[in-house]
Amino acid sequence: MTTPLRIALIIGSTREGRFGPTVARWFEAVAGRRTDIELTVADLADADLPAHWTSDLSPRGRAFVEQLAGADAYVVLTPEYNHSFPASLKQAIDTAGRVWRRKPVGFVSYGGLSGGLRAVEQLRPVFAELHATTVRETVSFHQFPFDEAGQPRDHEGAEQAATVLLDDLLWWGRALRTARGNDEAWSEAA
Ligand SMILES: Cc1cc2nc3c(=O)[nH]c(=O)nc-3n(C[C@H](O)[C@H](O)[C@H](O)COP(=O)(O)O)c2cc1C
Repeated sequence: MTTPLRIALIIGSTREGRFGPTVARWFEAVAGRRTDIELTVADLADADLPAHWTSDLSPRGRAFVEQLAGADAYVVLTPEYNHSFPASLKQAIDTAGRVWRRKPVGFVSYGGLSGGLRAVEQLRPVFAELHATTVRETVSFHQFPFDEAGQPRDHEGAEQAATVLLDDLLWWGRALRTARGNDEAWSEAA
């Protein structure tokens, strides 16, 4: 059997009372029903990253970057803040620097009318600059369609969208994992 793809789910917002963990718990449960992936949650609220870019990180900051470095692929969970993504997320992407190289990134977004899709579209060129591949399929939640139990009201539709995203990420993740393993120049540079 192929080794499961290691995916880090990054919770991109950090503010008190944020909605992100509700979406993250649902996504984690969906991913947990699969045997072809292993998903861990990387929560920016726990990462203790400094407000400015520096290579001098706290032990928790270093552990966060190491967690990301150990993943084969990423799912970035982002809300929309003023038609873009949160500053906390940009800081984490910049700080983690080289971990993204030659790996795929998928998105789960949420927000008002646009469901966070404007944030997603602005994240794509950022990841391209970092030599990551962003995958086409996305999951997006418009106007917080979750019930009191923290489940999407359209449970089936949401789960189907998550499955399509994870399948897409799995294809790219396996292909790029193999390519990285076969590329001596890449491993020397990494
Ligand atoms: C500073 C700020 C700006 C926002 N701007 C937008 C926006 O441009 N479009 C939108 O659909 N929602 C916007 N929202 C609503 C957020 O997407 C929504 O509150 C979401 O829950 C924020 O994610 P969080 O709860 O994980 O922090 C904004 C929220 C904040 C705090």
